Amino acid sequence: MTPLSELYQQIELCRQCEIARFRNKVVPGEGAEDAAIMFIGEAPGWHEDQQGRPFVGPAGQFLDRLLASINLNRQQVYIANVIKCRPSSNRDPLPTEIANCHPWLEKQIEIIRPKMIVTLGRYSMARYFPGKTISKIHGTAVKRDDVIYFAMYHPAAALHQQSLRAAIEADMLKIPALLAEADRVAEEKHEPEPQQLNLFEV
Ligand code: URA
Repeated sequence: MTPLSELYQQIELCRQCEIARFRNKVVPGEGAEDAAIMFIGEAPGWHEDQQGRPFVGPAGQFLDRLLASINLNRQQVYIANVIKCRPSSNRDPLPTEIANCHPWLEKQIEIIRPKMIVTLGRYSMARYFPGKTISKIHGTAVKRDDVIYFAMYHPAAALHQQSLRAAIEADMLKIPALLAEADRVAEEKHEPEPQQLNLFEV
């Protein structure tokens, strides 16, 4: 049994939040245990809850096309969400749900040790770029402790809005160069305040 599958077993047992009672399947995440890039979305939707897999509905099909645009497929990356259970009626995740689920996400990151974490949408962005606004920082990266954090719009939002769609497609195309030049992305200064994050335009 791999460390990730052991973790999935533990996540399966988690009943910390009310929404766990109503889920059809928990959606821990999927992909390569040694993936260089980890994508973090928001929460499972209806399709994900049915299948127990992240990003398998329309937003997921768009994500697959975005990955293909940089010659990647979902087996070569890792895809997770901020929370692992579907919120009822696809409402936004609650702060308590995000907090309860955060240790699972942290363990996934510990196991995978990605070189790059790509945040998809506001909820994962809030964790890694606190205090920032997605319309301002999408397509920008910051490096912290040898991990590059890169913010993108959520594929579901981009599916329905043409201007966001062009932005997410363009942002995705920045990923290969960022990874290849990982060492050239300047290290963030160790300053405690999130407002003092250095963001580097690529
Ligand atoms: N939206 C997300 O944020 N995650 C999924 O897994 C599916 C849709």
